Order: sequence, then structure tokens, then C-alpha cells
Amino acid sequence: MIYAANFKTNHTRQSTKNYMQDLQNKLSNKKTEDKVYVFPPLTALDTFEGDFTVGTQNAYPVENGAFTGEVGVEQLAEFNINSILIGHSERRDIIGESQEDIAEKFAFFKEQGFEIIYCIGESLEVREEGIEAVMTHLVSQFEGIDTRYENFVVAYEPIWAIGTGRTASVDEITETHNALKKVVDKPLLYGGSVKGANIKDIATIENVDGVLVGGASLKTETFLELVLH
Ligand code: PGA
Repeated sequence: MIYAANFKTNHTRQSTKNYMQDLQNKLSNKKTEDKVYVFPPLTALDTFEGDFTVGTQNAYPVENGAFTGEVGVEQLAEFNINSILIGHSERRDIIGESQEDIAEKFAFFKEQGFEIIYCIGESLEVREEGIEAVMTHLVSQFEGIDTRYENFVVAYEPIWAIGTGRTASVDEITETHNALKKVVDKPLLYGGSVKGANIKDIATIENVDGVLVGGASLKTETFLELVLH
């Protein structure tokens, strides 16, 4: 299983440092085959010692240059960062990244050999139309993306389940992940209100290879409830 913590715009440099230390102290009990990722905010990126991978929530598809307010590969390389989240619904819907922007970012970081955790997900409106509409939408979010890229992990995150406390049902996740596996034969994470109370049900679904976690990842105690469940 993959357990990925997405802090979003939470935590400071200092609190991230404390978090990483605490996480490392307690990760000795994790199953060796499980993999843990932490995506802190950009200002908290650093080199951390531990049995986990630190990635970036975002970056601009350049080495360096004149792109005010953005961070490129040169800044990430200082901390040996080579994992990135691309396509998160908050970047698509709040920041306004188009599928074209996302595909450009994907192509650039693929070229750099980054591990890409690529997020897709449908709105409640689409979900209510049924699985066919959901799959049409999800497949459209692979437009311009090389889904055969070897360092590619997909995170299915229904938008209506993100930060809402409302998780997709086991049946909904099972049906969607089964259909997605036929489209992309890559590790498939589920994201959307994953927490201690539902991790067992979600982790045992056949085509769920891991979870991408926001809210429940912000404290080591609640994140470890997932990793060590
Ligand atoms: P959540 O966020 O766990 O707070 O629902 C998940 C995500 O957006 O990655």
C-alpha cells in the first residue's frame, strides 16, 4: 500500500520539521512493503531523514527562469525532491489549471524522470449521472497524458468526497477502480475523506493500491492510524 499525506496549505516549516521527526520515530512499525509519501507546502520543503518520500504539491514546468512566484526543478533539486502531485482538483478548479496546462506539466516532469502522482476525479453532478458519465469524465482527464509512463501513480479523488467527510462507498470505489484499472494499469490510490474509521474498508478493496490523504494526514497520530492500521 501507498500512504500519501497532502498537507495542502497547512503546516509551517517548523511544524513540518516536528511532524517528520515524529513520523520517523513511529514508522519503524510499518510494513516494509508499504510506502509513505509526504507533500508539505513549498516553504517547508527540506531534506528529511526517514523511511518516507517527500514530494512537492506543485511546481512550474521549468528548470529556472523568470516566472515570478513559481518554483522550478532547480529549487526542488536542492532538496532531492523528485515526486510531484499533478492534476489535483483544487489546482484544476480553484487555481484554474486546464487539462492542457496539466498535460504540459506532466510531459515536463516525465522528461525529468519525476515520480508523478496524477489526480483525477469527478464532481457530484457527474457522479449522479452514473458510472458511464464518471468514466467518460475520468478518461478525459488523461488527455495528453502518457499513461504508460513508468513512474506514474494515479489518485482517484471524487471531488464531492474531498474535505467533506463524505467518503465514496465501497461499491462506488470498487466499481470505479475496477474500470480505471482497465484504462491504466498503474498503482491506483483512492482519496477523499480517508480516515481511521474507514481505512480498513477502503484498503481491502482489490484495486485500491493506496490512499491520498488531506485532513487526516495533518497530525501524525491520525496519519499513522492509516499507515499502521
Ligand atoms: P481529504 O483530502 O482527505 O481532506 O478529503 C484528500 C485530497 O484532496 O487529497
